[in-house]
Amino acid sequence: MSVREILKMGDPRLLRPAETVKEFGTPELDALIADMFDTMHAANGAGLAAPQIGVNLQLVIFGFKQNPRYPDAPQVPETILINPLLTPLSDAIEDGWEGCLSVPGMRGMVPRWAQLHYRGFDQYGNGIDRSVEGFHARVVQHEADHLLGVLYPMRMKDLSQFGFADVMFPDMDPGEDE
Ligand code: NI
Repeated sequence: MSVREILKMGDPRLLRPAETVKEFGTPELDALIADMFDTMHAANGAGLAAPQIGVNLQLVIFGFKQNPRYPDAPQVPETILINPLLTPLSDAIEDGWEGCLSVPGMRGMVPRWAQLHYRGFDQYGNGIDRSVEGFHARVVQHEADHLLGVLYPMRMKDLSQFGFADVMFPDMDPGEDE
């Protein structure tokens, strides 16, 4: 298990649509997921998508009990989500701050669906089927976007609300997430 290098915005590998995972329960998939958790935890992240470590598969991980990046955020269950399909449950849109391990040191205000249904598979091919809202819904949309080759600044509507985390939020530790 190892901490892998996280690609940064500007790397063309972050802009590719990811390929579906076709084989579940393999040692290779287990090893990849273990590396992703090591990498996410080392960076204090809330989530990580496989393309962020240069693996072009539809695989994301997310979840935390308490994250210093989001001291007021509710807990999100630790989840391995493969080949996800997202469906908004209403027209409601919420603005919220996001960061990204591939956009280190920055924060931006991003509109997202407020209520969301998502489905997909875990690493063994078992189905995942959830209806979520709020921060959980935001994290899933952020991570699923990585599988489309989309980074959060590409979703922003107002770039005046994009800046350095340590300038905009001086009381928080400098760092990243998602
Ligand atoms: Ni991200």
